[in-house]
Amino acid sequence: MEKHQQQPLQIGLAGFGNVGAGVYKNLIKNRALLEKRIGRALEIRRIVVRDPAKNRDVALPADLVSTDLDSLIDDDAIDIVVELIGGTDRAFELVKAALEKGKTVVTGNKALLAERGLELFAIADEKKTPIYFEAAVAGGIPIIKTVQESLVGNHIESVAGIINGTCNYILTRMTEAGLDYPEALNEAQNLGYAEADPTLDINGWDAAHKAIILASLSYGCWVPTEQIYVEGIEKITRRDIEFAQRFGYTVKLLAVIRLHPESSAIELRVQPSLIPRGHILASVNGVFNAILIRGDVVGETLFYGSGAGQDPTSSSVISDLADAALWRNTCEGQTGFVPHGLYGKPLPIDETDSKYYLRVEADDQPGVLAQIARVLGDHDIGILSVIQPEDHDPGSAPIVLMLHYARFGTIRQALAELRSLDCIREEPILMRVESL
Ligand code: HSE
Repeated sequence: MEKHQQQPLQIGLAGFGNVGAGVYKNLIKNRALLEKRIGRALEIRRIVVRDPAKNRDVALPADLVSTDLDSLIDDDAIDIVVELIGGTDRAFELVKAALEKGKTVVTGNKALLAERGLELFAIADEKKTPIYFEAAVAGGIPIIKTVQESLVGNHIESVAGIINGTCNYILTRMTEAGLDYPEALNEAQNLGYAEADPTLDINGWDAAHKAIILASLSYGCWVPTEQIYVEGIEKITRRDIEFAQRFGYTVKLLAVIRLHPESSAIELRVQPSLIPRGHILASVNGVFNAILIRGDVVGETLFYGSGAGQDPTSSSVISDLADAALWRNTCEGQTGFVPHGLYGKPLPIDETDSKYYLRVEADDQPGVLAQIARVLGDHDIGILSVIQPEDHDPGSAPIVLMLHYARFGTIRQALAELRSLDCIREEPILMRVESL
């Protein structure tokens, strides 16, 4: 069929939250541009929401609304199902049913792919129907297509990313405005960066889901969620950020994905980390995300942009709709997840190495520093630097140590011993120092 004779592609949109509404709004705004570039019109045929009466910034078009997800599957005229409802149960059923009916799927659901991607991509493969998921990682940054397509000629050596906008916003506000953690979280929620339930943002799991997806594209294996090491930013205080600055570092929630060629094992972790203030990632602030990728052919590359928010994330969904439209025109090309290697297995976290930042709150008594140093020395952990500021509460003193390279497992053993010392008053704060 000639292009000018083609009917518009029919889209079934599940979810009209922040991103769903952005997709609807921006498809209308750039309708003419998209039709010209894709060679075919994109038309939203139905929008499924839980509560049509809810107050919304973008008005819900009444003639398209339904509350029935099955209506997207049952309608044979719908070519593409866009899943933006979140969660992993109903979303899984919807995506599975859509693939089984031969509908192309676009999703921004990182938790769904990280937890059940293996099953869904197997169905996509069997049905020869693609799943597109550019919006699942880093909002508006086109990182999925970059790894899948632009870096296809590389072995990926490492990926280091600031991939949660909410955490980056919170840490930036704590650093630049001296806010306490609850104040900064409140601001991030009011600005719409955090997920409806911000737990997954601040406990590191939103970033972990994205890291699992990036690892799957880089190394061709789905790392089970229980095998990724994840820490959030809940325990980081304004004081830790100030101490880190004194040592010349900035605190960021960092996802690290790295191949250890000697063992073919993949290091995969999300942790608050100190990065040198002069490193380019240290200047990625606010809701912005950035991902640093090293490939054996390309060398070092950096991708920067808005990691959350209505318009940036809908830009990624729309790029997937364009890909889906082109794929439906040709019915050839990728059907979604294309493993680049299948050569990875997760490296146990205790076998990873780095330098560390350690803050302990201890009794302000002679001999306390010696007790801490003895525990570290017994584990063969070197001390690079120590500060104990004079201006502290009476009786309890923060002791802040920068520690030499050590195995994470060794550090954990030393921490367990430190906790058992009578002179230690609070849970110690440990962060990695990344050399990048
Ligand atoms: N809430 C996420 C973030 C955006 O703050 O980065 C969607 O993943």
